[in-house]
Amino acid sequence: MTIRTVIQGVGSYLPEKVLSNAELAQKVDTSDEWIVERTGIHQRHIAADGEKTSDLAIAAVKKALAAAGRDGKDVDLFVLATATPDQTFPASAARVQAAVGRPGAPSFDVHAVCSGFVYGLAVADNFIKAGQAKCAVVVGAEVFSRILDWNDRTTCVLFGDGAGAVVLNAEDGGGTSADRGVLSTHLHSDGRYNAMLFVDGGPSTTQTAGHIRMKGKEVFRHAVVNLTEAVREALVANKVSIDDVDWLVPHQANKRILDSTAQKLGLDPAKVIVTVDRHANTSAASIPLALAAGVEDGRIKRGNLVLMEAMGGGFTWGSALVRM
Ligand code: ACO
Repeated sequence: MTIRTVIQGVGSYLPEKVLSNAELAQKVDTSDEWIVERTGIHQRHIAADGEKTSDLAIAAVKKALAAAGRDGKDVDLFVLATATPDQTFPASAARVQAAVGRPGAPSFDVHAVCSGFVYGLAVADNFIKAGQAKCAVVVGAEVFSRILDWNDRTTCVLFGDGAGAVVLNAEDGGGTSADRGVLSTHLHSDGRYNAMLFVDGGPSTTQTAGHIRMKGKEVFRHAVVNLTEAVREALVANKVSIDDVDWLVPHQANKRILDSTAQKLGLDPAKVIVTVDRHANTSAASIPLALAAGVEDGRIKRGNLVLMEAMGGGFTWGSALVRM
């Protein structure tokens, strides 16, 4: 018997305010045409004044708990993936635990930027497999609008705010790829690439939150190579082929990265869940937001094989193969 981490419910939350490319073009020197052609992004959601990362996370977690038919008091681990916490400390996960969980349930943040959700899922999966949790919540939530330099057109057009969550439950499996649940996770990082994608502030350097800085072309090149490799790793580890995958739920950075990765893998583009057009890049929130979109519109069904992959600042990257 193998312990499997099964996704029981998914939920998401997007702030009400939508910022279109045309509206952005009134603030910085850009155009709807340029943004759509280079990124596939048409709009992004922006948190309201005073709306915090934990507020977005709590809304998404409540929906995921409702979808799973679970009470927050059942949850014995809260993991929040974010690079834009409410405060330098404590972890924003503690606010989520306080809002929906039982007093004493452990909570912490995981910081791996755009790979944060895959990292968080791996952490929760290992807690569950080790018998330290039976029911866990992993939520990716970001308010990137607060760390954008709104005068820098090379970055401010790319990102948005949002949150997505999953409720995970320990179940018995047979130890094969036919099991429901997380079949494997694969995590990587290479800190030599810090200068390619970073925030130019922080408590121990400038004592400020800072703004995103990025060498877009280099990030793009590394993303396609690393993501393709992480996907292959997941397929090999589970002895499945790309044709066995029902849905690719990738980190949503840029439509061109999604297309290039799918092409390199020989994957039918119709099997890729795409939300970057409506959400832009929401960092750690983008995979669970896309997963929720696919589940809620009925494309992703129970029993489907879902491959998740992400890459972000660090660099960090990774993949997870999950049977729903
Ligand atoms: N509007 C209009 N023109 C612009 C804009 C803009 N918003 N931004 C840049 N330009 C201009 C540049 O100044 C440049 O002009 P020049 O030729 O006169 O110098 C021209 O457009 C081309 O710029 P490039 O940077 O070469 O454009 P590119 O095709 O590489 O696209 C982009 C840029 C979209 C950032 C792309 O490199 C990319 O998506 N990279 C991946 C980065 C990413 O997604 N990071 C997110 C985090 S990591 C991850 O999630 C994988």
